[in-house]
Amino acid sequence: MTLCMAWLIVAGGAIGAQPTVTDADAKVQAVIDEVEKTCLDGPVYMIGPKKAQRLAELVRRAKPRLVVECGTALGYSGLWIARELKAAGKGRLITIEISSTRAKQAEANFRKAGLLDVVTIKVGDARKVVKKLDGPIDFLFVDCGYANYYPILLDLEKKLSGGALVVADNVGVGARAMDDYLKRVRSKYQSHTEWFDLELPWGKRDAMEISIVPR
Ligand SMILES: C[S@@+](CC[C@H](N)C(=O)[O-])C[C@H]1O[C@@H](n2cnc3c(N)ncnc32)[C@H](O)[C@@H]1O
Repeated sequence: MTLCMAWLIVAGGAIGAQPTVTDADAKVQAVIDEVEKTCLDGPVYMIGPKKAQRLAELVRRAKPRLVVECGTALGYSGLWIARELKAAGKGRLITIEISSTRAKQAEANFRKAGLLDVVTIKVGDARKVVKKLDGPIDFLFVDCGYANYYPILLDLEKKLSGGALVVADNVGVGARAMDDYLKRVRSKYQSHTEWFDLELPWGKRDAMEISIVPR
């Protein structure tokens, strides 16, 4: 190897413009931080960083091929999910939002974070949209109006893969309104409730229900 070639290899490694995982992660984190601030200022309800970290951890471990999220808002929780899918090098997120204005804002956020290639946003009532989805769905996250959880679950049950994770937000504050949903997952699936101390303007304590579909 000539001295010139050696220099090129060293320089390429040190100064090269190749983005690293850290660069990509910093880019996503900057968008997450920005969206979090927008939601807090709005307010636009979102899960907040503590529940989001747990959600991301569940996605990381499950390595799902298809995640369905009902209730996109501005894409806050979706950004956490999509970042894990992209890092895993496989998996897609379909996220459903009834408000076209919010869906557009979410799309811009996913694009800015460089995650739009793993995300499909569907605009419409999740109760109707889920009927047209193809399975198998490996991970379902429900966060779109307490009374909608039960009909969404009933519609998607046959499309959930064996071992799929079903995560429902707001099962603390919304327990009464989603009583039908909670009765079903707690009787039919292996299911548990995780509580979180939150630092959100609209709530200080709430829970997520994490359920596993039998194989
Ligand atoms: C709590 S926010 C979702 C927050 C989001 N998951 C996050 O953490 O960033 C609930 C969202 O569900 C949407 N929504 C309400 N009813 C819906 C329905 N039937 N179908 C789809 N989206 C719905 C609302 O417009 C709102 O944006």
